[in-house]
Amino acid sequence: MASQPTDRLEPAAVPLTPANNGDGRKVPTHVAIIMDGNGRWAQRRGLPRWEGHRAGTDNVNSILEAMEQLGVKYVTLFAFSTENWNRPREEVLGLMALLQDVVERETGRLHQRNVRVRYLGRTDRLTPQLRECIQRSLDMTKHNTGLNLSLAFDYGGRDEIVHAVRRIVQDGIPPEQITEDLFQQYLYTSDLPDPDLIIRTGGELRLSNFLPWQSVYSEYYCSPVFWPDFDRDELERVLEAYSQRKRRFGGLDAAE
Ligand code: IPE
Ligand code: IPE
Ligand code: MG
Repeated sequence: MASQPTDRLEPAAVPLTPANNGDGRKVPTHVAIIMDGNGRWAQRRGLPRWEGHRAGTDNVNSILEAMEQLGVKYVTLFAFSTENWNRPREEVLGLMALLQDVVERETGRLHQRNVRVRYLGRTDRLTPQLRECIQRSLDMTKHNTGLNLSLAFDYGGRDEIVHAVRRIVQDGIPPEQITEDLFQQYLYTSDLPDPDLIIRTGGELRLSNFLPWQSVYSEYYCSPVFWPDFDRDELERVLEAYSQRKRRFGGLDAAE
């Protein structure tokens, strides 16, 4: 027997969160940032590239505080991609040392502010010291209920997808049980909502292997400002632009 026509065939595939469906100014629940432009920031000042990375690291705290105050719940920071191993060895080692420094120095402060830290990416290529230092940070903050901070380090979207497929096969999941929901449970981001907004600083118009699965309906904003100079004013401009966007998730605007 032919099925009866209905107004709507299926529920919306992507649920609308209160943050993007509410009245007034919309604040993104999850903002992910591709922190780019450190090297050019340094070169413009006649400084070595690592000075740019250091200045970029110094900028993280004030942006996190601004995010908290502006009502953002999840912040993901892209700090090192699986392709960044192609850089000169000294730069790679410098970036590893910087991450360890920052995690060691900042975890206590983040914990006091009730921030929960997560890590997205591979850990098998990090030094044992860096791995342990990250693990301590995750353990110390795992019960915190404030801002959710995810550090994407040695992260690549394709690598994440291959990693997920391997684990699905290892778990012996039969093909008919492989759904979008199940697949996303195997990603590094399994307990995070998809990003509502992806900001790339430094002016480039590409994702560079950042969150390809999770970003299919993210709003994208490219800021020309190099990461070390990306401040609260620029963040507020970006969030204002976001609040004007109309997200449809393949459907129609409420008024149409
Ligand atoms: C981003 O800044 C930091 C990392 C990728 C680790 P870059 O180092 O890519 O800076 P630019 O793009 O060369 O200016
Ligand atoms: C993207 O920046 C990665 C991070 C910001 C961590 P890159 O500088 O590595 O990207 P490309 O090489 O310009 O695409
Ligand atoms: Mg770059």
